[in-house]
Amino acid sequence: MKNVSVIGGGTMGNGIAHVFAMSGFEVTLVEAKQQFLDKALDAIEKNLDRMLSKQKISNDDKKATLQRIHSTLNTVEGVMKADLVVEAIPEQFDLKKKVFQEVDENAPKHTILASNTSSISITKLAAQTKRPDRFIGMHFFNPVPVMKLVEVINGLETSEETTQTVMGLAEKLGKVPVSADDSPGFVSNRVLMPMINEAIFCVYEGVAEPEDIDQVMKLGMAHPMGPLRLADFIGLDVCLDILNVLYDGFKDPKYRPCPLLVKMVDAGKLGDKTGEGFFKYD
Ligand code: NAI
Repeated sequence: MKNVSVIGGGTMGNGIAHVFAMSGFEVTLVEAKQQFLDKALDAIEKNLDRMLSKQKISNDDKKATLQRIHSTLNTVEGVMKADLVVEAIPEQFDLKKKVFQEVDENAPKHTILASNTSSISITKLAAQTKRPDRFIGMHFFNPVPVMKLVEVINGLETSEETTQTVMGLAEKLGKVPVSADDSPGFVSNRVLMPMINEAIFCVYEGVAEPEDIDQVMKLGMAHPMGPLRLADFIGLDVCLDILNVLYDGFKDPKYRPCPLLVKMVDAGKLGDKTGEGFFKYD
């Protein structure tokens, strides 16, 4: 494994390119538009500068990392030499299906295809390609250079060899891989989202103020961040989408999204990215 292609250079993709390049892999970042590519490369450089200022890396490390990152707007060209492709484009099945079909047709036979999806079925994505045995979920967490976990999701036909290769790769990045089978929300969101939803129900029913709910979880349960602050950070629209995936996937009313969450998303109060969610941001 030497060449890694990352498709999509947004919040997650630029972080994924960053960690692979820093660990010595040759990375090709594929974006849809030049302006997003420029933004992604700029974000990577800024994040490396932050690490440099904290003396976590040297100037030579920064230079070498940037030299290992190549970029293109052409998917076919971007995956031609890849040993691993990690997809990090928006969370829409039809978009991902189109990209994976193109990647499958143009990447070498041995190439492993991975999706960073947070909720779409890995089995269903794998079925859009002719290599479901070499298809896997590689679920990184935001911010990628900081967060240790990689949730490795096995689709129905993912081979043991593919799983072991990807677990080993995650370790080479200095991450801790945890393997789980494909199921709605995997482990991370299946456990996290009902907690966030329940915290929102506490606000909705007037049990306590958002600040107090977060205090309870921080001081009583040793959570570094309260569930409502975390929901704002993730994006309330993203939380709602994932709860709907759990609700539809299990057909169990325990996953029904709180009406207050739906209302806040309708009102455009999505958290950090719009300046207001359960809390206000500058
Ligand atoms: P984002 O919207 O920040 O970035 C997506 C990028 O993909 C954009 O820069 C866009 O220009 C690019 N793109 C769209 N179509 C493309 C194409 N055909 N070829 C190349 N690039 C294309 O999205 P974000 O937040 O980075 O999410 C990406 C994936 O990661 C989603 O599946 C999401 O569910 C998942 N995820 C997100 C997390 C988060 O905290 N944001 C956490 C874990 C997973």
